[in-house]
Amino acid sequence: MAVSIEINTPDDWHLHFRDGDFLKETVPATARCFQRAIVMPNLAPPVTTAAIATEYKARILAARPANSSFTPLMTLYLTNDTTAQDIRDAKQAGVVAVKLYPAGATTNSDAAVSDLSHLDPVFEALVEEGLLLLIHGEVTNHDVDIFDREKLFIDRYLRDITERFPALKIVFEHITTKEAVEFVSGSSENVAATITPQHLLLNRNDLLVGGVQPHNYCLPVLKRNIHQIALQEAVASGSKKFFLGTDSAPHEQHRKESACGCAGCYSAWGAIELYAEVFDSLGVLDQLEGFASHYGADFYNLPRNTTTITLVKESWEVPTSIVLPNGNNIVPFFAGKTLSWRLHS
Ligand code: NCD
Ligand code: ZN
Repeated sequence: MAVSIEINTPDDWHLHFRDGDFLKETVPATARCFQRAIVMPNLAPPVTTAAIATEYKARILAARPANSSFTPLMTLYLTNDTTAQDIRDAKQAGVVAVKLYPAGATTNSDAAVSDLSHLDPVFEALVEEGLLLLIHGEVTNHDVDIFDREKLFIDRYLRDITERFPALKIVFEHITTKEAVEFVSGSSENVAATITPQHLLLNRNDLLVGGVQPHNYCLPVLKRNIHQIALQEAVASGSKKFFLGTDSAPHEQHRKESACGCAGCYSAWGAIELYAEVFDSLGVLDQLEGFASHYGADFYNLPRNTTTITLVKESWEVPTSIVLPNGNNIVPFFAGKTLSWRLHS
């Protein structure tokens, strides 16, 4: 008999579905193992209002596989023009969180916030309405080294926001550094973080040694191994402040294998298996369920899932390519590599 583990069905607290034909690929991939997902709003143009979020949600629901009860959780994209009324309307429409991208930080973030000091009324409305603030925590100043951008965001902005709005629930998204782990650990219970599979499995050697590896390029960029180890220790600790967010972010192969390759790793088809690999190698498989299925729901004040999934210890190879409905390919994260845990269907 193969070794197996059963856990409550997990949720993905940060991913990118994209739109249009992409949804036929991305929604089934995530619904495969997750019950809910926080859907990032960085479409072009971005999801800035309740009405746009409601329409986008309907397109996602229409792309679910037959009989799937997968539920997308919608977010709004903050801009310089977002108002407190936009937040109240979002709450009415069932939106659960808003996303703060510093302008220019990542894919489709040109419309984002250029001056955080204008957002105080919005942050107050978030507290009143019980919506979460999700933050891409990197400064974007050209003079700041790309490997230091997360750490500097903490010092320049994040500490200040958490001190001025102690009742605001903040998720520091896809953290990549030991400074971020320390900041979140030392903050109040209203501050938490998501962690991706790529930042747990890889460090910047996997991006740059032996040639540039475009399929390991994401933002925030992979850091040196001391930071990878800090992230591993954070998830192994069983702290409720750290939970699953894949940041699965598909880009077509030709856009990643390019002279100016896009940032983003498409991990959805191997998501829970990639995390199982990490937790197993750290000897803490017993911590996987809390990280993947409990702590995120608790932080979002949502009920935990009551269904379960089973993972079987059985090797399989991540496909080297996925064909999109438009005929173009995606190279998935960890393409061609062997994983030792498989989702039992
Ligand atoms: C994301 C994308 O492609 O939309 N890319 C990434 O590298 N993570 C944007 C983001 O989450 O920063
Ligand atoms: Zn993302």
